[in-house]
Amino acid sequence: MPSPQGQPERARGGARHRRATSSTPQTPIFLARSVRGLEWLAAAEIKSGLNASVLAIGHREIIFSAALDSRVLALGSIDDLFLLCGRIEEIDRGRISLAKLAAGVRKLPLARALARVGRLRPIHRSSGFEVIASFLGRRNYKRTEIEVCTGAVISEVTGMAFHDHETDAAPERDVSWRIHIRDGEAMVGLRVALRPLHRRAYRMSSAPGALHPPVAYAMSMLSGAYPGCNVLDPCCGTGTLLIEARRLMPDIITIGSDIDRDRLLAAARNGGGARCQWIQADLGRLPYRNGFADCVVANLPWGRSVAAKGAIKGNMSMAVAEAMRVLAPGGNAVLLTSLGEKLVSDRVLWSIPIRLAGHWANIQILSAESGKPPACFQRRYGPSLRHMWTQFGASPP
Ligand SMILES: C[S@@+](CC[C@H](N)C(=O)[O-])C[C@H]1O[C@@H](n2cnc3c(N)ncnc32)[C@H](O)[C@@H]1O
Repeated sequence: MPSPQGQPERARGGARHRRATSSTPQTPIFLARSVRGLEWLAAAEIKSGLNASVLAIGHREIIFSAALDSRVLALGSIDDLFLLCGRIEEIDRGRISLAKLAAGVRKLPLARALARVGRLRPIHRSSGFEVIASFLGRRNYKRTEIEVCTGAVISEVTGMAFHDHETDAAPERDVSWRIHIRDGEAMVGLRVALRPLHRRAYRMSSAPGALHPPVAYAMSMLSGAYPGCNVLDPCCGTGTLLIEARRLMPDIITIGSDIDRDRLLAAARNGGGARCQWIQADLGRLPYRNGFADCVVANLPWGRSVAAKGAIKGNMSMAVAEAMRVLAPGGNAVLLTSLGEKLVSDRVLWSIPIRLAGHWANIQILSAESGKPPACFQRRYGPSLRHMWTQFGASPP
């Protein structure tokens, strides 16, 4: 429920979430999972994209209520989405909690959750279901024990077969229940889509350093792109950033260049339907005139998973200077850098720390001209981005 001030609750560092029970059957409540550090941005997309009420924001999660329609499946900045079926309290670290959990799950409206998700996509009851459990903090029981004890109850209540994903080598199930325990509470949800939302159907070719699609989508939201503008990724790899930028805003012109021909071929395969131009070029000597690109987005080759080659080898400041040369006046560049490589420049407007593949990194927004606010504040998600960052944006680790 919204707080008395109409603000979502910050649920971080052990703080408890505001009650958000399923007592109002007409208003479904969802649990979205996100990359650490992007919870606030995902909340902005949810709030303005779905006209939703954001109820609570916590560690890698956003709880919100919204209409049950297919727009929830189009959210681009989240990793996964569950219909929240209910919460079970007094789940502590003791093993007795396993029995309490099973008893609590039995009382939840499991059949109603299945029926609701069934309105958005087909549910093949005969294929059975899986349970994925997780918890924060130390417990005297294992994740697999949570899955087995709740799976047995869900099977009894729904009449569907439980498949233990630890022992059952079958492919993923279409029905996936999620149990997440933190503090003294378990949240029980049902995955809304067939697969986690971060898995994109377009990704046919991957390569080391290929960007996590929700992060690419988030960077596009921060780029200030607008219909008809040129968006350039000068080290595009497999094309994720530009494909996601087009997903956010189909009417943009996208140009991707990379020094590596094989990666450009992979980008063309992934972005086959996305009408991008893919050009072989060295980021140290880009074949574009000054001010050519209205926005630049890039996941630079800092050397963690992909080494810089060509003119920028050992000279990343040359890469950044060249990206800024081709950026149009008034435009922004959104660069993903590892935390140790945080850019220090009077052109940096904003640094957003995120946790990616077990490491802290930074999304940094640079401006072609100093003294201007980030261009994204003037775009579709601008008011929500500004509001959610002010309320919930992370301070650097
Ligand atoms: C971290 S990867 C980018 C991944 C990309 N965002 C994706 O999702 O696949 C960095 C890219 O920089 C490219 N690269 C390295 N040196 C380069 C240079 N001098 N000019 C252009 N691209 C370069 C690599 O080939 C690699 O594709």
